[in-house]
Amino acid sequence: MEYIFIDGKKVDMLGFGTYKMSSSAAREAVPYALEAGYRRIDTATMYDNEDGIGEALAECGIPRGELFLTTKLWTDIKCADDVFRSVEGSLKRLRTSYIDMLLIHWPTENNLKVWKGMEKLKKEGVLKGIGLSNFKIHHIEDILKEAQIKPEWNQLEIHPYFQNRETVEYCKKQGIVAEAWSPLKRGEALKDPVINGIAAKYGKSAAQVILRYDLTEGVAAVPKSTNSERIKENISIFDFSLSDEDIEKIKKLDSNKRSYRDPDNHGF
Ligand SMILES: NC(=O)c1ccc[n+]([C@@H]2O[C@H](COP(=O)([O-])OP(=O)(O)OC[C@H]3O[C@@H](n4cnc5c(N)ncnc54)[C@H](OP(=O)(O)O)[C@@H]3O)[C@@H](O)[C@H]2O)c1
Repeated sequence: MEYIFIDGKKVDMLGFGTYKMSSSAAREAVPYALEAGYRRIDTATMYDNEDGIGEALAECGIPRGELFLTTKLWTDIKCADDVFRSVEGSLKRLRTSYIDMLLIHWPTENNLKVWKGMEKLKKEGVLKGIGLSNFKIHHIEDILKEAQIKPEWNQLEIHPYFQNRETVEYCKKQGIVAEAWSPLKRGEALKDPVINGIAAKYGKSAAQVILRYDLTEGVAAVPKSTNSERIKENISIFDFSLSDEDIEKIKKLDSNKRSYRDPDNHGF
């Protein structure tokens, strides 16, 4: 595993994504992920699967301190009291007394009020880390102007065709972890001939090449799979490195055009 450091604490760069997994599918998949070596799990209240994840974690026998749980606040959370309520529900469903990283799922006009609530819970220790998701530079700047506690994380659309470079660079300069959501472009990027050419050279899969690339570029990633073999495949990326030439080839796939919702006009 490769790590990033937050407040001196080692955090896995590769985590396990759970979007579009029902609670029962997550209940089944999380033990595979833990067995494969994932310790960081990414969910959200919007995924409606915290319960299944909580159940799997309660039975896994791994000490809570070795796990890293990220969940998110949905766009209906508008003020500090809403934050407290949402976190209370997440804690109950995840069967835990703290959350390692709470993110604002998408920016809204209530970002600052929500952030204040998150800061309070971080001071109380209920949230170990607080961060953002889908925040463009201007959204982050608005937070930084008022924040007492700086955001530690920003989860973003990042895949070979939209490498989101400007925001990633900005986050890195601010000491904010940039993380790829849909790193495999929901499976679509796995058909790419350039990626597959590189994969054949290393005897690796297209998914492994993309995830290896993200981590090499200093970008955390949360690939999702419900299949035990693919779950294992996606974490088996620590035994090879990409040449500078192959890194350049993947850089060139970037069209700088998003495939999914624009955070300025997300409609949620
Ligand atoms: N913050 C946000 O707004 C946001 C938005 C989207 C996603 N996310 C997070 O990011 C995570 C990942 O994104 P995602 O789920 O949208 O997409 P993804 O991880 O890019 O791709 C998942 C898809 O690829 C398939 N897949 C995974 N590994 C594979 C492999 N090795 N070979 C072939 N196919 C493979 C999966 O199918 P199988 O399951 O059948 O293997 C699934 O259909 C989410 O689960 C969620 O945690 C966050």
